[in-house]
Amino acid sequence: MAQSLLLYASHDGQTARIMSSIAAELRAKNIEVDQLLLSANAPLRQLTAEDLLEYSSVLIGAPIRYGRHMTAIQRFVGENHNWLNQIKSGFFSVNLTARKPERNSRETNPYLKRMLSQVGWQPDMVEVFAGSLQYSRYPFYDRLMIQLIMKMTGGSTDTSKDIEYTDWNKVNDFADRWAKYIAPSAP
Ligand SMILES: Cc1cc2nc3c(=O)[nH]c(=O)nc-3n(C[C@H](O)[C@H](O)[C@H](O)COP(=O)(O)O)c2cc1C
Repeated sequence: MAQSLLLYASHDGQTARIMSSIAAELRAKNIEVDQLLLSANAPLRQLTAEDLLEYSSVLIGAPIRYGRHMTAIQRFVGENHNWLNQIKSGFFSVNLTARKPERNSRETNPYLKRMLSQVGWQPDMVEVFAGSLQYSRYPFYDRLMIQLIMKMTGGSTDTSKDIEYTDWNKVNDFADRWAKYIAPSAP
């Protein structure tokens, strides 16, 4: 039986990097993990309801795009909140609003607060991480929109530079706490 399921969505790779870092930390503590990417095109075809029962814990990570967590994750949570409420579960959100110290906690990040108030799922552990600004990856329209949002919120509008805001110490600390929660006897 796999110890822990790590489910995530990622459009530009930052949530994937965060989840991979958490997975590496869990594996280093001999915790067995399955790390799975959810995408809108392949919404969990690889996992049946029966498969889910094999796991004793699940950690879900999702980035924000235009004010919403990516659809594949929202759909998964909506369809499986009963199961999620019955096992050890955690959730983290990745967004650029969280680059601001006054917007980077469970109590202060608007996307996280809204998600937790709407989905009918109360994860046991919750975190929010600042993501990255990757102008070099964005197609024209997205680049323009993000530039506008950055201008409105006092961020960088220089499209020649990508900026990673993720606090990796915060990620490592969360991985540590999650490991202790799902496997209290792990090193
Ligand atoms: C098209 C687009 C829309 C975004 N919309 C928001 C937003 O509404 N609020 C926010 O805080 N961050 C927003 N972001 C920032 C992303 O959440 C951030 O870049 C994150 O690192 C993306 O994660 P990913 O690389 O795993 O896809 C947006 C980014 C893009 C590219």
